[in-house]
Order: sequence, then C-alpha cells, then structure tokens
Amino acid sequence: MSKTDEIKTLFNEYVMPTYSPELVLEKGRGSKVWDTDGKVYLDFIAGISVNNVGHCHPRVVEAIQRQAADLMHVSNLYYTENQARLAWRLSRLSLDGKVFFCNSGAEANEGLIKLARLWGHENEKYEIISMTGSFHGRTLATAAMTGQEKIQEGFEPMPEGFFPADFNDLDCVRAMITDNTAAVIVEAVQGEGGVVPADEAFFKGIRELCDEHGLLMLCDEVQCGLGRTGSWFGYQAYGVTPDAFSLAKSLGSGYPIGAVVAGPKLADVFGPGKHASTFGGTPLACAAALATLDVIEDEDLVSHATTVGAKFQAGLEELASRYEHVEGVRGRGLMLGLVLDQEAAPVTEILRDMGLLALATAGNVIRFLPPLNVKEAELEEAIEMLDEALEIWHDDLNAAAEAMAEAAGAVEEPAEEEAAADAETGEEAPAEEEAGEEAPEEAAEEAEEEEKAE
Ligand SMILES: Cc1ncc(COP(=O)(O)O)c(C=O)c1O
Repeated sequence: MSKTDEIKTLFNEYVMPTYSPELVLEKGRGSKVWDTDGKVYLDFIAGISVNNVGHCHPRVVEAIQRQAADLMHVSNLYYTENQARLAWRLSRLSLDGKVFFCNSGAEANEGLIKLARLWGHENEKYEIISMTGSFHGRTLATAAMTGQEKIQEGFEPMPEGFFPADFNDLDCVRAMITDNTAAVIVEAVQGEGGVVPADEAFFKGIRELCDEHGLLMLCDEVQCGLGRTGSWFGYQAYGVTPDAFSLAKSLGSGYPIGAVVAGPKLADVFGPGKHASTFGGTPLACAAALATLDVIEDEDLVSHATTVGAKFQAGLEELASRYEHVEGVRGRGLMLGLVLDQEAAPVTEILRDMGLLALATAGNVIRFLPPLNVKEAELEEAIEMLDEALEIWHDDLNAAAEAMAEAAGAVEEPAEEEAAADAETGEEAPAEEEAGEEAPEEAAEEAEEEEKAE
C-alpha cells in the first residue's frame, strides 16, 4: 500500500468524518504545498486564512524552536514576557485597550459574547444582533450567533439571545434592537458567507446605531484580520472603531492562538476568575504570534496585500468579462471571490488537479486567500490556471447541456421503431446520467462537502 493510501485508510478509520479531505499534504514553503506523491500546489486557501506569512516562514519557525527550548507553558497564574509584549503590540495596532488570549476563533468569539454579556448584565442587556451569512464558529454559542441555519441544524435547542439581521441592511439591524440588546457583531468582509464586504454606509451606520442606543459594536476579525484585506484589521478600512474584536487564524501562522481585543470601555470588564483558558497566551503561542507580527511589519505585507490584491482582482475581473458563467469578483485585498452563476465545486476540483488550491464557498463562489507574501509571478500563474480551468468547465457545461437537449429530444420524439420496442419491453427512456450529465444531487453533495471545510 502506498504511503498516501495508508494515511488515508488510517485517517478514514480513526478520525471523525467532520471534513472530507482529498489530498494528503506533507510539506509547505511560502505559497506552495506538496502532497505525499511529491505533487506541488499553489496554496490559495492558506489554511483558510491562517498562513498569511506563507508556510513555514523561517522567522516563525526559528521563534517557535527557540521558545520551545526555553519555556512552553506555565499557566496564566504567572506573568510571562511574550504575552505581555503581544498584548501591547496588538493594542497599539488597534484599540489601545487590553487583550484576552485563547486558542481559536470560536473561543475568541465566545470571549466576545461573555464580555458583552458581563458588560450588559446589570441592565439585563444580553442579546446580540449578528448578520445573515455570517460565520463565528462551531461551539454552541458561536454557532447560535452564526447567521446560517445549516450550522445549527441538529444541535437544537440553541443558546438564546442571538438574532441575525440581514447583512448590509441597516434598517433591519435597527428594527431588531430591543431593551435587552447588548451588542451588534459584524465581519468587515464575510468569508464563509461568500466573500461579501460590508457596505461602507452599513458599517458606519452600525457604529452610529450602537452609539445612539448605547450598544457595543463588535467585529469578528478572525478571517479578515491581520492584513488580509489590506489594512491591519478589516474594520480600519471604514474609519470606524469597534468596542472589541476577535482574532485567531493567522495570528500564530499555524500555531493555535486566539485573542479578544478590547478598547478602553471593555478593557477591565473581565475581572479575576470571570474568564480563563489554560492554554491562552502560552509563551510558545505568543512567540509564534510575535514573530508573525514582525514578518507582517518588516515585509510590509499589509500594503503588499493591497497592491498585489488589486492586480489579482484585475486578473479575475478580466476572466469574469470573458466567461459566460462567471458573474463577477468580490472582496478586498487578498480576500477575493469569483462569483459563478452555479456551483463552484466542479471548478475548484479542476483547479486542484491542475495544482491550484482554492475554496468553493457559499455554493457559487470560488474563494482565494493566498498568503500575503505571495509573489506576483504566483498570482499570474494562478490566473493562467484559472483561465484554463474555466475553459474546461465551460466546455463541460456546454457538452452536458447539449447531451441533455439531445436526451430530451429523444424522449419527446422517440423513433417509431424505438417507441414500439419500448412498448413491448416496458423499457424506460435513457437516464440523464447515461447522457453524460452529473446527477444534480451529486453536484450538490460535492459542493456541500467543500463547504464543510470551514
Ligand atoms: C469569521 C470567522 N470567525 C470565526 C471562525 C472560527 O474560527 P475557529 O475555526 O478557529 O474556531 C472562523 C473560521 O473559519 C471564521 O472565518
């Protein structure tokens, strides 16, 4: 049995099937990853926005190795230097307040929820208005806050107090405010929702509404934070300051770390014993994060995301103008989506076989999240591959449409002898599948499996 098959067999037998992986990856450098058969891929998923400084950046690797040899963990019963320095740097980059460290995006959003509830507790303010299409995590409370029913299905009853308003509809948010509302939470660019940026008027309007009604404005920066959209944090593009935000994914370049970053208003709401996390902000995790911030700063990756993002976007727009089934391009910086008029999974499968990893999202969107230090030549290579993949896909669609039309013609006007034979044998008309058409349920299943990746 090959190494690839052995790993897949073991994995399928012993790992709970919450994902449906295809490739077995074993090595990464910069924007590239290699599978166990030695095939190389351009990784434009980058751990779903985790590998913002690329795979195995030498400065991050070195920082982790050095710290691992000194001190990995001592619990938060003690001061540690890296946690103090990281909190200072994140605060200076954002809200000038304080930080709570944890391990993941969901845990950071749980922290935001608890922070908002504790803040509003005396005044019985505990409700949180979130957005349709949002994604905040898979714990019960963050799933309840996520504005997508499919994330909640089967886990009911969900925790109470979360109300999704229509994304980019300020009147809808306003109408959902009650005496019990504590906060509104929003992503500057929805990732899982299909790479949908918040409209400027909407985002600014939320801040105004929150000020008017004495509510907290919270941002989920787990996916769009840390330079991804061309500013350190997605909210900064709007010139608006939230009261707190969550961070995770790219903060540790692959070493797990999450953070609740709060402005002055919320900086001291969590007193001793009110919230905790054993692994939150270990010296090792914070070493990875400090090195990640160094790389982003020293390599000027925030502005790089803007400049090369604009070029990549122009390349995608050019493709959109040429292909019938491509509707357009959305996003900001290096968080971009190509919107199709139907399921995106068949295209990402073609791309994967060609050597480009991209993610089918929200059904019909191909999401691109390359490392922020992606080379321009790699972006050009990706556009070339995408061009080819779209051509193959359009050919497939045309062939399928022709085959369907032929099959329909055959059913509508059967040849006289065939009709006679059918009447004798009772045989049915040829199934669509025989005509080379993928059954619609199969296509839907494939798309759903890719989406589960999040
Ligand atoms: C915007 C956003 N928030 C929260 C999460 C959850 O993060 P984690 O998977 O680290 O719990 C994700 C994950 O994709 C996300 O994109």
